[in-house]
Amino acid sequence: MTAQIIDGKAIAAELKQKIRAATQMRLATGKRPPGLAVVLIGDDPASKVYVGSKRRSCEEVGFKSESFDLPASTTQETLLEVISTLNQDDEIDGILVQLPLPSHINADVVIEHIAPHKDVDGFHPYNIGRLVQRNPQLRPCTPKGVITMLQSSGIELKGKEAVVVGASNIVGRPMALELLLAGCTTTVCHRMTKDLEAHVRRAEILVVAVGKANFIPGDWIRDGAVVIDVGINRLENGTLTGDVEFDSASQKAAWITPVPGGVGPMTVATLLENTLFAAEHLHI
Ligand code: GUN
Repeated sequence: MTAQIIDGKAIAAELKQKIRAATQMRLATGKRPPGLAVVLIGDDPASKVYVGSKRRSCEEVGFKSESFDLPASTTQETLLEVISTLNQDDEIDGILVQLPLPSHINADVVIEHIAPHKDVDGFHPYNIGRLVQRNPQLRPCTPKGVITMLQSSGIELKGKEAVVVGASNIVGRPMALELLLAGCTTTVCHRMTKDLEAHVRRAEILVVAVGKANFIPGDWIRDGAVVIDVGINRLENGTLTGDVEFDSASQKAAWITPVPGGVGPMTVATLLENTLFAAEHLHI
């Protein structure tokens, strides 16, 4: 079997077109554009790239984007003050604080300080709790983007064996909750999992988010599986590669996401989707 490619770049472009059209509709009816504040602390190179892409995408769809680039020495108190101001700002619908944060800042305190109705990352315990209780409001962008990709490829999820490799707060855990909500029988594997290979071999839907290049050998993939590779790893020669061995996995899977051009563009498009949702339905 040679897998069909799930073209995240194309699906994201289509989603962004819809968001752009909805934004123009808002403006035509005299409403203000959705507003997203993107906060970057320090100068982690990968974070700079992600934040740059988020800000550019805001402009593409006609959102107002406010940028806060603060030095790595910024205190937690200062960051909380910036968030308090944005929580009160009538032109801001979404607040995104890029992670990871410098080690002197407690990310949990920062996330909980963002007003839940402006938490377009979906990381606040309120929003995670809503997802747990099957009544999601603002949903974490990468997992929600993965669900959008699966739906737009016509992939049925109900009753499927789903395996998520990686249990982070940003991807693995909320991904498992999304798959559970979609009707999958869902297993989460992590660094203490005893027989990872056996779990991966059972997966009809496999989502890998560990951040290690070629971590999953292609021959572990079940025949006809759907493989979603969330990893973006830079090799020494500069090329980007995922967490799954792409060429050999493509010989077994029915569907597979490429890296780059798979999940990455969907995360950004879903952030815009969440910001539009917050503007339309949650702004107080
Ligand atoms: N760092 C890696 N992924 C993300 C994300 O989706 N949101 C934020 N805020 N930081 C991240």
